[in-house]
Amino acid sequence: MSSLPIPNAEAQAHSQQLAALIQTKISQNAGWISFADFMHMALYTPGLGYYSGGAKKFGVGGDFVTAPEISPLFAQTLANQVEQVLAETQGNILELGAGTGKLAADLLMALHALNRLPAQYCILEVSAHLRQIQLETMQNILPPSLVQRVVWLDALPQDFVGMILGNEVLDAIPVHLLHNTAQGLCERGVAFNGDFVWQDKPLPVGDLFDLAANLALPNDYLTEVCPAASGLIASLAHMLKHGVIVMLDYGFSAREYYHLQRNLGTLMCHYQHYAHTEPLIYVGLQDITAHVDFTSIAHAGVGNGLELKGFCTQAQFLMNCGILNLMSQVSPNDMAQYAPLAAAAQKLLSPAEMGDLFKVIALSKEFEAPLLGFASGDKSHTL
Ligand SMILES: C[S@@+](CC[C@H](N)C(=O)[O-])C[C@H]1O[C@@H](n2cnc3c(N)ncnc32)[C@H](O)[C@@H]1O
Repeated sequence: MSSLPIPNAEAQAHSQQLAALIQTKISQNAGWISFADFMHMALYTPGLGYYSGGAKKFGVGGDFVTAPEISPLFAQTLANQVEQVLAETQGNILELGAGTGKLAADLLMALHALNRLPAQYCILEVSAHLRQIQLETMQNILPPSLVQRVVWLDALPQDFVGMILGNEVLDAIPVHLLHNTAQGLCERGVAFNGDFVWQDKPLPVGDLFDLAANLALPNDYLTEVCPAASGLIASLAHMLKHGVIVMLDYGFSAREYYHLQRNLGTLMCHYQHYAHTEPLIYVGLQDITAHVDFTSIAHAGVGNGLELKGFCTQAQFLMNCGILNLMSQVSPNDMAQYAPLAAAAQKLLSPAEMGDLFKVIALSKEFEAPLLGFASGDKSHTL
């Protein structure tokens, strides 16, 4: 990792503080913690974790760029799908993990233009730091009458009617690492010997063992599973009374995810626009993420009373939601407006960028009509 930028002294001190907490946790736990515990502490320890600390994460000068940060075109296109759900349910919006709040602000502007504003735009955000950034984004972009509609929740509501959204949330949920070895199924966790190091432990009989056994992993195969993401979907299924959940993220069906050739899993880190595969360094300074197994998300939804409404690539979803139509409202002769729009569309749609790797899944309850975003190219049958 010699090519990674070196953190400054302040960032290194911050990282050491968090590393000390993780070391304590490891020694209190007989010298070993699961990678899910490590990832949880690295990302979400209050004040110190990557998402809970103060450094800039999104966009230029941050570590990575997400679709809402690329252009308002993303939210404007998604607004057409949200509009359909709000028209049918007369409900509200709940966004999970709202990042800088850019998607929320641009969606509210777009829904205002479509005359389909929800009474409330609820945000559930685990990071207190990001909540503050979200409020600032709203205040900078939106008129006060729209800011007033935004409500930050501390926990999922008991009942919800309307549209639930999450962009790049599932990939930020801590994963367990499974290692199928000649000696049997192991969980790969983290120990400390002066540095954080990987350590495998035989997987005891229990839920994680059953999950791993079901995957029938090939020998000498390292991968990850995310029971917490399935748990989140199960919780959403229980509180959703009438409406639709749409999750957008990078990932695959289980068949592709647990493919023989993907024998090192999908764990990735992002630090100042460098992508690499060493989550045990730069603790609290870098993003840690795993691709999403959309089959497990679909199973969690359907197993808890939801209907699988659609699954397709981000490119297909945005095309179905009218991205080209939105672009056609700007004249290509107006280069100042058209050129950034075309560049954004290229990033969002191109198979070489976000178009194919990113997928969209929709799960619903008591919602009859087919969803606009999956009118063409629905691949639900592949899950
Ligand atoms: C990669 S960022 C994406 C942010 C934003 N949605 C975007 O697209 O720019 C992941 C976000 O998910 C949040 N998050 C992670 N787990 C969550 C959970 N269980 N509930 C709600 N938010 C969560 C993080 O705090 C962070 O805001």
